[in-house]
Amino acid sequence: MEEIEKLAKFPTQNPNPVLRISKDGTVLFHNHASEPLLEHWHYEEGKPLQDRWFQFVLDALRDDDIKTVETEIGDKVISLTFAPIVEKDFVNVYGLDITERKQAEEKLKETLDATIETVSKIVEVKDPYTAGHQLRVSQLTTAIAKELNLSPDKIEGIRVASLIHDIGKISVPTEILSKSTTLSDIEFSLIKEHSRIGYNILKAIDFSYPVANIVLQHHEKINGSGYPGGLKGDEILLEAKIICVADVIEAMSSHRPYRPALGIDAALEEITQNRGTLYDLEVVDACLKLFKEKGFKFE
Ligand SMILES: [Fe+2]
Repeated sequence: MEEIEKLAKFPTQNPNPVLRISKDGTVLFHNHASEPLLEHWHYEEGKPLQDRWFQFVLDALRDDDIKTVETEIGDKVISLTFAPIVEKDFVNVYGLDITERKQAEEKLKETLDATIETVSKIVEVKDPYTAGHQLRVSQLTTAIAKELNLSPDKIEGIRVASLIHDIGKISVPTEILSKSTTLSDIEFSLIKEHSRIGYNILKAIDFSYPVANIVLQHHEKINGSGYPGGLKGDEILLEAKIICVADVIEAMSSHRPYRPALGIDAALEEITQNRGTLYDLEVVDACLKLFKEKGFKFE
């Protein structure tokens, strides 16, 4: 104990929690600042930690690698780092109050969300026929991404990219966007430019997920027949493949200037028929499951 106290001389003055936990889950040392944490853990002296927290100790020792976790204690968010000292069979735990950082991140996310929503609306003012299109596509892409068990980061990336995937249409003349007759080749090539223009608009923004590239690729088809790159299969980002499918479903089930709504059944038929040629197999299957088994509906 004396040795631990000596080793832990500095931690006693540390305003943040510092603890030492043995491989059997008992707390060998804790400083004053750890008391709320021990209370939060319902720790009883001499007994092992509760399973969830004990597991971090075991994992850190087994992998000989630090483990970090965030936990809420009252109105504070504490980050805990479990640092293994393998040859001594114990783990040092360092706590850090990250409440302010969390609040700042939250505020930043709110600001970014409001900005994205605004950008999303700008293109829809220009192209009223697709008003709400991006929002509905984003409802479906997020649902597909969840169905495919993608990570929370990827799901967030796809949500954001979907909300602004047609931003490049601000460069297409309104007369072409709202034309009620068939488009000429030149007009169609102008519309096709929207993927690359969207990419150019978004590429300078550091989103922490590849939003610009997802937007660039959202009209690529897995057999290489899409645009602008004619990319195939694995060359296309999964997020772009998901938007591609959701885009078709939403577009076909909504009214367009050149035709009435074709309906959801026709849309599901389209992706089923071209499953594995134009559209990614897994994405199509997840989408069909959502509509046929899980009762997905656009809000
Ligand atoms: Fe598009």
